[in-house]
Amino acid sequence: MSSKNLSDFNFVIFGGDGDLALKKIFPALYQRLNDDQIHDNSKIVVLSKNEKDSEQFRNQLNAELLKRIPEADQKCIARLCAMTTYIKIEITNPEDYESLRLLLSTNGHNHSIFYYSTPSSLFGYISAGLHGKKLIDPNSKVVLEKPLGSDLKTFEELNKTIRKYFKEYQIYRIDHYLGKETVQNIMVLRFANYLFELAWNRQHIDYVEITVAESLGVESRKDYYDKYGALKDMVQNHLLQLLCLVAMEAPSELNADNVRNEKLKALHALQKYGADDIKKATVKGQYTRGKIGDAHVNSYQEDIEGYGSTTETFVALRVFIQNWRWAGVPFYLRTGKRMPERYSEIVINFKPVPQNIFPEKAPLDRNKLVIRLQPDEHIELEQIAKIPGPGGYRYKSISLDMDYKSSIGKQFPDAYERLIMDVIRGNQTLFMREDEVRASWEWIHSIIDHWEGQELKLYQAGTQALSDDVLMPGHEWNKI
Ligand code: BG6
Repeated sequence: MSSKNLSDFNFVIFGGDGDLALKKIFPALYQRLNDDQIHDNSKIVVLSKNEKDSEQFRNQLNAELLKRIPEADQKCIARLCAMTTYIKIEITNPEDYESLRLLLSTNGHNHSIFYYSTPSSLFGYISAGLHGKKLIDPNSKVVLEKPLGSDLKTFEELNKTIRKYFKEYQIYRIDHYLGKETVQNIMVLRFANYLFELAWNRQHIDYVEITVAESLGVESRKDYYDKYGALKDMVQNHLLQLLCLVAMEAPSELNADNVRNEKLKALHALQKYGADDIKKATVKGQYTRGKIGDAHVNSYQEDIEGYGSTTETFVALRVFIQNWRWAGVPFYLRTGKRMPERYSEIVINFKPVPQNIFPEKAPLDRNKLVIRLQPDEHIELEQIAKIPGPGGYRYKSISLDMDYKSSIGKQFPDAYERLIMDVIRGNQTLFMREDEVRASWEWIHSIIDHWEGQELKLYQAGTQALSDDVLMPGHEWNKI
């Protein structure tokens, strides 16, 4: 869609000179402007507490964009800068919203998007400040970044605050995994290919693995991470969203509510843990010193300078979905920091053949569908094939490999490009509805409420110590 079809808008970013804005939001706006999807008449307003003026912010933005997109077109950066105004604001002071009101009233656009790129403790102040100056109307939208609460109670409080000012149709809760091309492709793979649907159930699938491994540690977000840990930082949102896309039923039509209704049903069908199965079905770990490639890296406790912290940096869960399609099929969810390499992958492991008729003694591997979400995005179907040669049937597992880059030949846009354009266009399909977030917190509580006394296993940074076979059928932890 070209910019001609979109009305001009105000894109107002609170915390707009922070990390997320400079790394993700502005590069995405640049790309969409460069592709003529956004019109130069639209306005971007950056609000932050830092002492600077628009000119200084534009210089900062110019340098950041050149750093992040070396091939960027200088003219397009200049256009983006010209659209952008900086306002210094004390977010908690309602009077400071007057300059924003004046600016927006001169722009003359009746479509404002308020992007809250700040800690969630400020969401209430921002909403009240906007409301106080009558800046929220039925055309306004609000974009919220995680974390949306740190448990069910804090989520409900936060949600109540936002819902006081915005209706659900105006709220865009970002889970950036949903904006990734390969994640969107899960629905296409499942619902545009009849072949897979025939086998996508408990009759044919033995188990499913969903893994998000990162080689990075906690980086600059010590305080946040130590409060949340891997379960709340990754499983409550990204991994559960991936699980929903694998497990949900086909929506009758591709619109936001139909898709989210189906995801919600999958979340409601998740079996909750009880005190007795939590030990068998969940593992938490924390990294110790180790090596990633050739580099020596610190332990988690050294990274956060918090000796004695019991926050988990690795989680493995065995999850069951209680419905007719999935009853009895384990889903293994794993995520961890300081793994040997960064990759996100979904593997559908099919059942073995009922009987091996071939005389060769080697066991037959199973068919597997490997959906590599990142990096090296590809989809592999592992099948058993005869090794050519006379005299008998020898076989091995080979892959039918669909590599995105060579098959589709296109550079992937960043998740934020798609998500920001969806906000502008008003498409909520890839954003979490409040009941989805509520359901995922409710389920997460069945873990946190029983996790207190559970052993925190240590793993050496850069090793698979806990990932390999963790919780897989036959593994020792299964027998505990
Ligand atoms: C974020 C988490 O939501 O996702 C981070 O807070 C994590 O801890 C990141 O590193 C991973 O995202 P991606 O897109 O790099 O896989």
